[in-house]
Amino acid sequence: MIKLDLSQTIGESVTINPELVRVYMDYGVDFCCGGDRTVKEAIERDTDEVEKLIAEAEKAMEQASQFSVGSSSMKLSDFSTDQLIDRIVSQHHSYLKKELPVISELMFTILMVHGDNHPELFEIHKVFGGLKTELEGHLVKEERMLFPKLRANDADCKALIEELEAEHDGAGDALHQLTDLTDHFKLPEDACTTYQVVYEKLKVLVADMYMHVHTENNVLFKRFA
Ligand SMILES: [Fe+2]
Ligand SMILES: [Fe+2]
Repeated sequence: MIKLDLSQTIGESVTINPELVRVYMDYGVDFCCGGDRTVKEAIERDTDEVEKLIAEAEKAMEQASQFSVGSSSMKLSDFSTDQLIDRIVSQHHSYLKKELPVISELMFTILMVHGDNHPELFEIHKVFGGLKTELEGHLVKEERMLFPKLRANDADCKALIEELEAEHDGAGDALHQLTDLTDHFKLPEDACTTYQVVYEKLKVLVADMYMHVHTENNVLFKRFA
């Protein structure tokens, strides 16, 4: 039986076992902004269900280790820099380029239909709009400015990395705000199908952004710190 290492930092624990991301998210454990805390500190502080979380984490690790017998078993920390960047662009950046405009359009639709009954939608719409604008600029900085330098192993990138990490913190704040404003994406009684789709898409956005920012901050950027 694989054991969850409580003395690792939580950042290390998801670097070595990315399958833990989902478990930590389900229990509201912040592994992203608080990545330097130990697993023990993080789970004891962020959840009341420590025993349950540990059992689920160990089950997830067990499943991942069985799954990793095949050829697609590489862990993020074993990826080369080129492989990491390819993965970030093809999975996370492509996802954002496709989904941000879709969510934006649907968000405006539910604001028009439900805004009078659900005034919180005005704030959700505003926070999402700010996040979308920030992320679009951020993707361009990474793809056009930073990633070519990292691929070329150019050491002159520390200031840019710091700027992008600060933007990650800003995006993290916006995602926390969206989680709070939607009361953890709980749908109101009168929610229509579009409302449901928007909340579902926001939930996926939060999960994907956690993995995305984690891959950059804790794995890729760390190599150039
Ligand atoms: Fe990125
Ligand atoms: Fe980023």
